[in-house]
Amino acid sequence: MSNQPWWRHAVIYQVYPRSWADADGDGVGDLPGITSRLEHLADLGVDALWLSPFYVSPQNDGGYDVADFRDVDPLFGTLADLDALVARAHDLRLRVVVDVVPNHTSSEHPWFRAALAAGPGSPERARYVFRPGRGDDGSEPPNNWQSKFDGPAWTRTTDPDGSPGEWYLHLFDGSQPDLDWTNPEVHAELESVLRFWLDRGVDGFRIDVAHGLVKADGLPDADLSLDETRDRSSLLPMWDQPGVHDVYRRWRALVEEYRGTQTALWGEDDDRMLCGEAWVQPAEALAAYVRPDELHQTFNFSFLMTPWRADALRASVDDALASAGAVGAPQTWVLSNHDVVRHATRLGRSDATQVAEVEGIGPRDEQPDPVLGLRRARAATALMLALPGSAYLYQGEELGLPDHTRLPDEVLQDPTFARSGGTRHGRDGCRVPVPWASDGPSLGFGPGEPWLPQPPGYADLAPGRQRGVEGSTLELYRRLLRVRRELGLGTATLTWLPDAPPDVLALRLLDADGTRVAEVRTNLSDAPVTLPAGEVLVASGDLDDGRLPSDTTVWTRLTGS
Ligand code: NOJ
Repeated sequence: MSNQPWWRHAVIYQVYPRSWADADGDGVGDLPGITSRLEHLADLGVDALWLSPFYVSPQNDGGYDVADFRDVDPLFGTLADLDALVARAHDLRLRVVVDVVPNHTSSEHPWFRAALAAGPGSPERARYVFRPGRGDDGSEPPNNWQSKFDGPAWTRTTDPDGSPGEWYLHLFDGSQPDLDWTNPEVHAELESVLRFWLDRGVDGFRIDVAHGLVKADGLPDADLSLDETRDRSSLLPMWDQPGVHDVYRRWRALVEEYRGTQTALWGEDDDRMLCGEAWVQPAEALAAYVRPDELHQTFNFSFLMTPWRADALRASVDDALASAGAVGAPQTWVLSNHDVVRHATRLGRSDATQVAEVEGIGPRDEQPDPVLGLRRARAATALMLALPGSAYLYQGEELGLPDHTRLPDEVLQDPTFARSGGTRHGRDGCRVPVPWASDGPSLGFGPGEPWLPQPPGYADLAPGRQRGVEGSTLELYRRLLRVRRELGLGTATLTWLPDAPPDVLALRLLDADGTRVAEVRTNLSDAPVTLPAGEVLVASGDLDDGRLPSDTTVWTRLTGS
């Protein structure tokens, strides 16, 4: 294929450890469970897996509240289990990317406990963002910032004598205090954490809240609403502040030191990779994170949030490719993850052509159309996997899993639900344990009751029901990934085909010497369209007498090309 580094074109599969496979039967997934199922990923044809956090944590935010950055939570296993997972993955030629959570720690982290005990003005408190309150008695938060999970972004502490004390900042839950990235000790600690995992053989990091580490000087009030800043994240004082780029320049230099330390395994293609989770607008501001001396990748959430409409998707793809291309970086593509409604559900909403809803759907909300959703999701994935760059898949999407949209309030665990007083359903619906079998108490997830109930439809979506079945979603993904690899689509160049029918996305992929590799068409109109002659390589749904039905994508090779 290409001689470009793996992270420029890799397909990376996200495993949310709580929900992938439970080996010990406690109802929560674990590392040995993941290791036991890695062959599924090799068989699927992905290049790497990304593990959401498995570190020591009270699990107030699904592990994104880390109490020890250098150890595995007993819920998930041990460091030896992690080593075994990495070794097995490498045997299967799968790279392993792990999460790093540098914006905040858990309030159970020894640093935060020490900070509370040490009191105002101490070096222990200087690792976090403690401030006196406003008003005569300090009873008002230091500024007006809101938590992403609802409510104020500040919590007041209680001094050892029982009197009200300083406030600390938390952009997320109150149990996730923000670190202070103006403090060199914080830099040194996180850099040492990166080295700890690199020394254990991991191949890269997904950086949580990558755009949030550095806050505007003086922590000024946020004077604009979220809506007013939607097109420029840096207008809010907690996001996308210029100083954050210095952090990633240092991190890039650090991971580059590890290049070539595993050539026995990867030959020349022996790079470590950094991918930032940065919800940053506009695209040029996001691209600044992937300048040559910063991160290798950032997630392209704009694509995920694009309505299911040809004009919007085309503009999104163009914008993304142009902005990343301007700094010489690969673009990434993603449609689902553990924070958003799965695309098989999202695209079944009645308003999917107008907005891309990303908040959780609950039993009191309008219920999406699952058949339409899956049909469009398959078409969307087939479009995504043809696009140049790297792509991320979220566990279970290859089975066509929808969200559980009827989870009762009593089982919800996402802190968003409680913090919003129940007005926001939260993200549990996309985190439901994966069905590996079509019967048994947890559909093969593990021997115990799963930590979240699975919806009735999951039994029919187990891999055993789909493997070898022509037209199944699993076989569609396997074929897309195989053809993508064979044709080198991840490193191809995209051009739009002129004269495509209205509401049809039609693109041509060219290899480095300009040879036509494939053509891809996605029909977003509501009627079938005629296809030009050519060999059909893969289609996301049945063709209609040589025509491409609506909400369907086809990859073709032109006869003679
Ligand atoms: C982004 C993670 O993906 C999400 O799950 C988490 O709640 C927040 N960051 C806070 O760490």
